[in-house]
Amino acid sequence: MKKKMEKALNKQVNAEMYSSYLYLSMESYFQSISLTGCAKWMRSQVQEEMFHGMKIYDYVHERGGRAEFEAIAKPQTQWDSPLDAFEHILAHEEGVTELINNLIDVALDVRDHATKAFLDWFITEQVEEEATVGGIVDRLRLIGDDSSGLFMLDSELSKRVFTMPVK
Ligand code: FEO
Repeated sequence: MKKKMEKALNKQVNAEMYSSYLYLSMESYFQSISLTGCAKWMRSQVQEEMFHGMKIYDYVHERGGRAEFEAIAKPQTQWDSPLDAFEHILAHEEGVTELINNLIDVALDVRDHATKAFLDWFITEQVEEEATVGGIVDRLRLIGDDSSGLFMLDSELSKRVFTMPVK
């Protein structure tokens, strides 16, 4: 694998680990306001991001590369409301989609079609993530200040379980 591709993939491992860290920080925020269903949903999100990072890490090795780590940035620790937190997730995921698009640009630039094919999985994953989080944002906007609506949504989100995708 070309050095430029390896470096870009390693950077993405860091971005995925940061996502995991950010979502763990959000899990703690939801715990602090007693929305345990949202906190449980966030735990699945943490595991999913960790899985994304590991998937890229494994791929780097599969292609004969070497993982090189940078520091993981400190995530935000407080949000104004559940809506504020989920809007943050949506904006963050849109940013991740952009990063994946940039990675594909690099893959095409260095004519690494294997990496382009590998990254296609992430493109599909991002569409799903943005749709799921966008749906929750819409519902939180509808709920507004209605606490019974919020607790119903919290209970629904508590049902999420992370299952490791088949490779
Ligand atoms: Fe790893 Fe939420 O994208």
